[in-house]
Amino acid sequence: MEESDELLFFINGHKVVEKNVDPELNLLTYLRNKLCLTGTKLGCGEGGCGSCTVMVSKYNPFQKTVIHVAVNACLAPLCSLHHTAVTTVEGIGSTTTRIHPVQERIAKAHGSQCGFCTPGFVMSVYTLLRNNPEPTMEEIEDTLQGNLCRCTGYRAILEGFSTFAKPSNCCGGSGGKNVCCKGQSGAAQLSPRLFEASEFKPLDPTQEPIFPPELLLPHESPQRTLSFKGDRVTWIQPTTLNELLTLKGRYPEARLVVGNTEVGIEMKLKNMLYPVILAPAHIPELNLSQRTETGILFGAACTLSYIRGQLKQAVAELPSYRTEIFKAVLEQLRWFAGQQIRNVAAVGGNIMTASPISDLNPVFMASNCLLALASEGSTRNVRMDGDFFTGYRKTVLKPQEILLSIEIPYTRKGEYFSAFKQAQRRDDDIAIVNCGMRVAFKEGTDVVEELGLSYGGMGPITVSAKKTCAQLLGKKWNKELLQEACSLLVDELMLSPSAPGGMVQFRRILSLSFFFKFYLSVLQKLGRDFERDIQVEPIPPEHLSATELFHKDPPSAVQLFQQVPPGESPTDVVGHPLAHLSSIKQATGEAVYCDDLPRFERELYLALVTSTEAHAKISSIDATEALKLAGVVCFLTAKDVPGSNETGHIIMDETVFAEGVVTCVGHVIGAIVADTEAHAQRAAKAVKIKYEKLQPIITIQDAIDHESFFFPPRKLENGNIELGFAQADDIIEGEMYIGGQEHFYLETQCTVAVPKGEDGEMELFISTQSPTQMQTLIAKALGVPANRIVCRVKRIGGGFGGKESRSSLLCTVVAVAAQKTKRPVRCVLNRDEDMLVSGGRNPFLGRYKVGFQKDGKIVAVDLKLYMNAGNSLDLSVAVMTRALFHMDNAYKIPNIRGVSYICKTNLPSNTAFRGFGAPQAMLLAECWMNHIVAKCGLPSEQVQRLNLYQEGDFTYANQKLEDVNIGKCWDECLESSSYHSRRKAVDEFNRQHRWKKRGLAIIPTKFGISFNAIFLNQAGALVHIYTDGSVLLTHGGTEMGQGLHTKMVQVASKALGIPVSRIHISETSTNTVPNTSPTAASVSSDLNGMAIYNACQILLKRLEPIKLANPNGTWEQWISAAYMDRVSLSAAGFFRTPDLNYDVEKNEGKVFNYYSYGVACSEVEIDCLTGDNKNLRTDIVMDVGNSLNPAMDIGQVEGAFMQGLGYFAMEELRYSPEGVLYTRGPGMYKIPSAGDIPTEFNVSLLRECPNRKAIYSSKAVGEPPLFLAASVFFAIKDAVVAARAASGVKGLFRLNSPATPEKIRNACIDNLTQMCSPAVPGTFTPWNVEV
Ligand SMILES: Cc1cc2nc3c(=O)[nH]c(=O)nc-3n(C[C@H](O)[C@H](O)[C@H](O)COP(=O)(O)OP(=O)(O)OC[C@H]3O[C@@H](n4cnc5c(N)ncnc54)[C@H](O)[C@@H]3O)c2cc1C
Ligand code: FES
Ligand code: FES
Repeated sequence: MEESDELLFFINGHKVVEKNVDPELNLLTYLRNKLCLTGTKLGCGEGGCGSCTVMVSKYNPFQKTVIHVAVNACLAPLCSLHHTAVTTVEGIGSTTTRIHPVQERIAKAHGSQCGFCTPGFVMSVYTLLRNNPEPTMEEIEDTLQGNLCRCTGYRAILEGFSTFAKPSNCCGGSGGKNVCCKGQSGAAQLSPRLFEASEFKPLDPTQEPIFPPELLLPHESPQRTLSFKGDRVTWIQPTTLNELLTLKGRYPEARLVVGNTEVGIEMKLKNMLYPVILAPAHIPELNLSQRTETGILFGAACTLSYIRGQLKQAVAELPSYRTEIFKAVLEQLRWFAGQQIRNVAAVGGNIMTASPISDLNPVFMASNCLLALASEGSTRNVRMDGDFFTGYRKTVLKPQEILLSIEIPYTRKGEYFSAFKQAQRRDDDIAIVNCGMRVAFKEGTDVVEELGLSYGGMGPITVSAKKTCAQLLGKKWNKELLQEACSLLVDELMLSPSAPGGMVQFRRILSLSFFFKFYLSVLQKLGRDFERDIQVEPIPPEHLSATELFHKDPPSAVQLFQQVPPGESPTDVVGHPLAHLSSIKQATGEAVYCDDLPRFERELYLALVTSTEAHAKISSIDATEALKLAGVVCFLTAKDVPGSNETGHIIMDETVFAEGVVTCVGHVIGAIVADTEAHAQRAAKAVKIKYEKLQPIITIQDAIDHESFFFPPRKLENGNIELGFAQADDIIEGEMYIGGQEHFYLETQCTVAVPKGEDGEMELFISTQSPTQMQTLIAKALGVPANRIVCRVKRIGGGFGGKESRSSLLCTVVAVAAQKTKRPVRCVLNRDEDMLVSGGRNPFLGRYKVGFQKDGKIVAVDLKLYMNAGNSLDLSVAVMTRALFHMDNAYKIPNIRGVSYICKTNLPSNTAFRGFGAPQAMLLAECWMNHIVAKCGLPSEQVQRLNLYQEGDFTYANQKLEDVNIGKCWDECLESSSYHSRRKAVDEFNRQHRWKKRGLAIIPTKFGISFNAIFLNQAGALVHIYTDGSVLLTHGGTEMGQGLHTKMVQVASKALGIPVSRIHISETSTNTVPNTSPTAASVSSDLNGMAIYNACQILLKRLEPIKLANPNGTWEQWISAAYMDRVSLSAAGFFRTPDLNYDVEKNEGKVFNYYSYGVACSEVEIDCLTGDNKNLRTDIVMDVGNSLNPAMDIGQVEGAFMQGLGYFAMEELRYSPEGVLYTRGPGMYKIPSAGDIPTEFNVSLLRECPNRKAIYSSKAVGEPPLFLAASVFFAIKDAVVAARAASGVKGLFRLNSPATPEKIRNACIDNLTQMCSPAVPGTFTPWNVEV
């Protein structure tokens, strides 16, 4: 090949010509690092979060039109963008030009909290609107399948964007008195909307930038082959098929890249290197779409979005019986990845990757699709049958061959097809098991003539159940066939109990469940089509529920809150639903996060070198090869730490770099510092470490067996437990395991350290919730006093506790590197590194013994709590302390004993996470409550209500409860959710449906507000008033999306009596407000709000004489006069929560300043055959005192609820028995997506409940609502009880958390589950273990 070609494309209307493009460079890195367009964010780098979404527009010569598609910039090779126009969030609007309506609406509808995901959402919807200015709500939801948000809970995002949708039946907020028609009855309950849609700028599609005319011209002249050469990879883009085939002949190992959604992942995460890449996207034969006599033929480079469009059209135009397979492909594509992936991924890429969990291959195999293969000088056709895949990711293709096209056949009368998929999450998830199933009957009969059953997820390749199919030929489609088919499938689709991917029993059950569904749906169709000719076995009506495809009604939501009383001063915005003050900047991409800081002169990049063993001695570390690689500056280990290598939280039991021994996979051993990120990461992989393995302890059970605990067990006790049990009418005992949770903040851990060159000074920009703690630990590592270290935080892209202590892992290392090299050093952890090293929520094992009376009244509770803390103590002891204080959830327990064990294991240290141990303890409480209810046979809500705390009760920590609002919340929630009538409706539904069951549950929560470490309950603030009257506010809290800065500005505005627009918060930094507590424990508004109030009062006092002298003066006049009078216009404020004096030894004194209360009622529907589930409705009533800002508070309630929903029903960390975390990215670890929000989601803030204990009568809200998602867990359990009852199985069963499809299905015992008995534990090594 000759010289590299020039790459020509447009970005935001500007022409860019790049010479010597490196084929390994992706669009995201180019935008952020080269063009400093940092609005597009890096959330995962693997196509799974959508935060990097941009719009790519190109002229499509095959469709002869300009098309606009949303793509993930993190997976888009820059080389693939020749002759395209890229639009980023900066290109559609900004605060300095005009804000685009998409940006305006997500911001003003409160759909942006931390804002890190916001540009991605904006660009997804912007692209949709470019193609379709008036989409339906369904299309909007579809477009957002590939966008994740960890903060908002999605409702606000969807509601903001719904204003673009074609009008639905909802009044859109004009249902009289400015309320929505869906608001509930009773004037006192009505609230204004949280935003005013009528104020939004209209969308004017004529205002959008045009497609660059220059990009239309080249298509008139012949194209030529392009090639781009990098250091390691060459990218060749041929224009004719012959050229492509010649090249493939010359480079048989070359990859053909269209969407790069497989190859990109292999190169990034699997360390693969492909020296030659062929890009066939421009070859006409590979882009063909043609209806033939036998089916529709698609070129292998056709994208999935394009195929979807073509198949939809065919289904609409052709007779239904001909399109059975098309409908099945469409059903698979509906749940295939997200829009951004479908827009670029090609069908050929899916087939040729030959993944055993491909969603399309089982369908193509069962339908016997015809594949055309070509190599230089020859073509051949092969059927996609059971012989096509020859091994894991291998096919019958020869190395020099390519896939040219696929023909998807029509079906004939009497031929039926279905496809099924079950995943952990419905939207954008890979399958656990999927399948394609086809049957053709002898004409006019129900005798099987042809049968194809193909499965994904049942082995290393897509498998065809050939034997089963052969045995069933000639048989009639009836119960006997069903029985025989299931017996045959069980034998044919055997999975080893150690099979990769785990979930073995579930997968085996699914393979039968899918056949059962297929069997019924074929019976149904036979009955419909051949009613008169064939005697088809009738299907009992209640069994039809097995055949229904998943559907969800349009979402609806109501938010109720107390309006500010009329007559308040216009400058007093406390209590108003003010939008997050940065939300517009977040939506335009102008908001600056840590890694958005422009590169410093001579800046270096750092990459971590971490342990691959859970427990081992380090025998040797060899960086020789790594140090020889391009760009590498140095390699650091423990000996390079100038100060102390010892670090930690609460106790100093960690190291900056491991010394001698590693105690978890992911333990930081060293770090490479290099000129670029790519060079640093490449070199980090080249560092060789040898280990001498030691016995690891991985699970809680291992720790119990080895008595590996951090401390001797700790006990919290009240009353007389033995006497309590003696008084009980009944006693129950049980156990529950509660899995951990990954924080999955969208912005990963990040630090930029800038040495100042003198006196050991260093300035650090850190994405952390604890600037002070980081300052202390950095100073210790560097061996300098804390006064040389400044830690600055402008905003962070989500924290949830994961950036409270664990940020020190990275920032100490980066600081050491900056000190050593005397140059600025940056590091942003990749998503997989972040998940590997930073730990998460502590897994718990709870054991209980509970005594109660006949009416359900609790008399004694005896608990053992075990937590998996990981390899260091971190905050686990504090987490356990909070767990011990929340063992009662919201119930009065006269005699109680809780004994806690903090297990020391060889996992990365677990840490703070929203709720901080309380959710685990409260879930256990609801577990035993559920057990009591089942045992005493009374209605659940009656027993729960009976035990709720009352005003004046004492907790078991001997704190008297005042202003107990739990009863109020309970009664309002029961009523507003119509609990009693819906209970009846659920029971009725369950009688009528055998394979779908509904469940309903109502759950209370009580959450103590204060840090348990008393000294942390303090805060500082600094308020400067400048001579023009503007105010600069600083306080100790960090802004992480919760709207803290907005609330603090509201507080200062009210306190000073000036408009919000006069007040600014720039950042949080250790040199303005020192010695701050972490932004945690939900108390930041309480503490910092009071400190700000205090500072404002000091200033007002100083201004008093000036105001008296000129009572009619303006703020500006008073400030000017004060300045001239030499009055100090700067004040520091301080606050310490009074009266906190809990004494652990005596178990007395005040442990919490006050409590927050809430209640939620949820209804779910489960598919008993697959474990699939959907949330039909959730009603929440939350006590937030007098809300400082109802929009923020409702945002916190919804966001916490959805995070809790992930915790209790979806998110599953999976570890190997050797302690290796498998779930290291959004591909395997599923957090809730927009499709998971309850179809009806109603949130009400309790009215008239001022809180005397906090600023302006407000209450904390960050953590308390998370636990309310337990209502979903127990609604699921309720539904499973109904499913088991339908199989005649009564009595209790254990359901561990999270209630995933696997756990649901395995618990719904029926004939199919009984055919798949699990292997006996201990007889095999499982793929994964519960830690
Ligand atoms: C976030 C995310 C979500 C995903 N979700 C799903 C999902 O839900 N279901 C699912 O099945 N998959 C999923 N995938 C996998 C992937 O998107 C699909 O397999 C996709 O169809 C691959 O197409 P591509 O064009 O991007 O492939 P590329 O990465 O461009 O290529 C993939 C492979 O195919 C080979 N190849 C491509 N075309 C040809 C050809 N014509 N002849 C010979 N070889 C060829 C290449 O050499 C390469 O080895 C997901 C991937 C990501 C990143
Ligand atoms: S960063 Fe690209 S999808 Fe997550
Ligand atoms: S606002 Fe969506 S991730 Fe924070």
